[in-house]
Amino acid sequence: MSNSIESHLAEDRVFKPAKSFSAKARISSMAQYKKLWKESVDKPKKFWAREAKELAWRKPWKKVLDWKAPDAKWFTGGKLNVTESCVDRHAAGPRRNKAAIIFEGEPGDRQVITYGQLQREVCRFANVLVAKGVKPKDRVLVYMPMIPEAAIAMLACARIGAVHSVVFGGFSSESIVDRLEDSGATHIVTADGGWRRGKIVPLKDNVDEALKKYQGIRSVVVFKRTGQEVAMTDGRDSWWHDETAKVPAKHEAKAFDSEHPLFILYTSGSTGKPKGILHTSGGYLTGAYTTCKYVFDMRDDDVYWCTADVGWITGHTYIVYGPLAMGVTQVMYEGAPNHPDFGRFWQMIEEYGVSIFYTAPTAIRAFIKAGDQFPEKHDLSSLRLLGSVGEPINPEAWMWYHDKIGGGRCPIVDTWWQTETGAIMITPLPGCTPTKPGTATLPFFGIDAAILDEEGHECKPNEGGRLVIRKPWPSMTRTIYGDKARFKKTYWSDYKGMYTAGDGARRDKQGNFWIVGRLDDVLNVSGHRLGTAEVESALVAHAAVAESAVVGRPDDLKGQAVVAFVTLKEGVEGTPALQKELRDHVGKVIGAIAKPDEIHFAPALPKTRSGKIMRRLLKELVATGNVTGNTTTLEDFTVIDNLRKSIEASRKTG
Ligand code: PRX
Repeated sequence: MSNSIESHLAEDRVFKPAKSFSAKARISSMAQYKKLWKESVDKPKKFWAREAKELAWRKPWKKVLDWKAPDAKWFTGGKLNVTESCVDRHAAGPRRNKAAIIFEGEPGDRQVITYGQLQREVCRFANVLVAKGVKPKDRVLVYMPMIPEAAIAMLACARIGAVHSVVFGGFSSESIVDRLEDSGATHIVTADGGWRRGKIVPLKDNVDEALKKYQGIRSVVVFKRTGQEVAMTDGRDSWWHDETAKVPAKHEAKAFDSEHPLFILYTSGSTGKPKGILHTSGGYLTGAYTTCKYVFDMRDDDVYWCTADVGWITGHTYIVYGPLAMGVTQVMYEGAPNHPDFGRFWQMIEEYGVSIFYTAPTAIRAFIKAGDQFPEKHDLSSLRLLGSVGEPINPEAWMWYHDKIGGGRCPIVDTWWQTETGAIMITPLPGCTPTKPGTATLPFFGIDAAILDEEGHECKPNEGGRLVIRKPWPSMTRTIYGDKARFKKTYWSDYKGMYTAGDGARRDKQGNFWIVGRLDDVLNVSGHRLGTAEVESALVAHAAVAESAVVGRPDDLKGQAVVAFVTLKEGVEGTPALQKELRDHVGKVIGAIAKPDEIHFAPALPKTRSGKIMRRLLKELVATGNVTGNTTTLEDFTVIDNLRKSIEASRKTG
């Protein structure tokens, strides 16, 4: 199995949706797609207004779009409460007793929450937050396992106009501190722990550790999930079950402006400090809803399952806001895909009759490696549509997903988008788009995507360039929280009035987009964005380290593996014990996903005469074992030779 981009060029297998699938789909022919796409980019306001009208608004908007690059305001003058679209309108009608969330915990416990119950739980928790003194626009940090209460906490924030900042449960206490400080959060919702591979993730302990360094927290509400003893600080901490028992299950929702902030979600960039991506209400919800409707073609009788974590944007848009706005039934799972073995997902698909399944290429590659015997044991015939997200899916993984999981009959939607875009941007539509393994195909409605060269000219077919979006769309991020200058510089400074995604891509002759990967110093490790600078700054924070450079290396399972070059301080010896200590240190500072797969001690790093580390050379070296690229600007030629020798030596000893 390879993960090479080059193989895409040779990809000529084309898969068209079955006639029976197309016949029932909302968009059933390419002619229909092309017509609507053209209309939607010629007159985006008309298209998005039509879609937004399907949501619950308290007050209609005056203007669909106010646009002065890079500032977009969508549906200005309009007022809504996001939870009315996601919960109340279903609870008030025939979906009242329909399952909203079918939950399975890793230990095997199960729970079904109907839309009626979801409404009561969201209202209760909204009342709890109000009782704790949370006001509109206050930031609430949510650090939870993958349990329904994570979604309930997010929706409760939305209901009272507070801004949630969800932190992935796999992140460390220091990552919590960074996010608390940056967002100025005043309240935390967490759990005692969560289950992962049979072990408890000590969420509350991590929060306690973080709160030794951050003083601004007024309350911590703790959901009891794992039941082990945790410390509770008097006057600050309280239990979810105690608090919810005190309040009514009704909460009158206030209406907020369409541009009211909904959440902040941190994502990696090319500097050490994660960016707090801000999303607002009306536009974001419109993007989430519209993509669920057309990309997943969700129906009332679907059972939908997205395996992402709520700590990532996929969990926000395609577990919480989009599917709930559609009123669909979804499956939610707490734990690891290989617990107790690699059959867990397939068992759940069979048992719950999952019809739409959305996962990541890195998971698919792990399943391939584990062996076909796991899916083969299960009846997967309920599936009708498959989705992929997070990184380019290599054609081998695509084919396996198509054949072994989809039984050759399910269309695959390979969806390209980002934390910043809020919703899917480039994707097949399942009832019409001819798919090819490895391409996210064509832009979604209202999305004017293009590939430009350095001068801003559109690239010719198969010529590589930068992926940009030329027109605003409703679910676009409004800013980096507290850092407008960085927002402008990162996304809006390459080409006038256009959004740059930071991805390299090309289009084939049919216009399909092939995403090649990041152009900046951002790695994609198991579908997670990770800034090389973040890992580097974690490393140099260790007492033994003088300098470090981190690069990605292609990896069959993770997409990219993290390789760190470390120069130690004078007198420190580079031992295997120190390698382990540094890995653990990075795990502690950022989280386990950031732990370097390889650490190489190097007396010196390759630099230009002006002292810039030449990561390009390091990348090539770890990928191929050699450097053939231009080295004329390299200050000291012996450095590369020494590094090559040390990599060879350490890979030999494993
Ligand atoms: O490089 C692209 C890659 O993931 C980046 C966005 O990461 P994040 O904000 O964490 O969001 C991930 C989930 C939406 C993109 O810049 N990426 C995401 N989906 C794809 C992809 N690359 C290729 N194909 C995809 N389908």
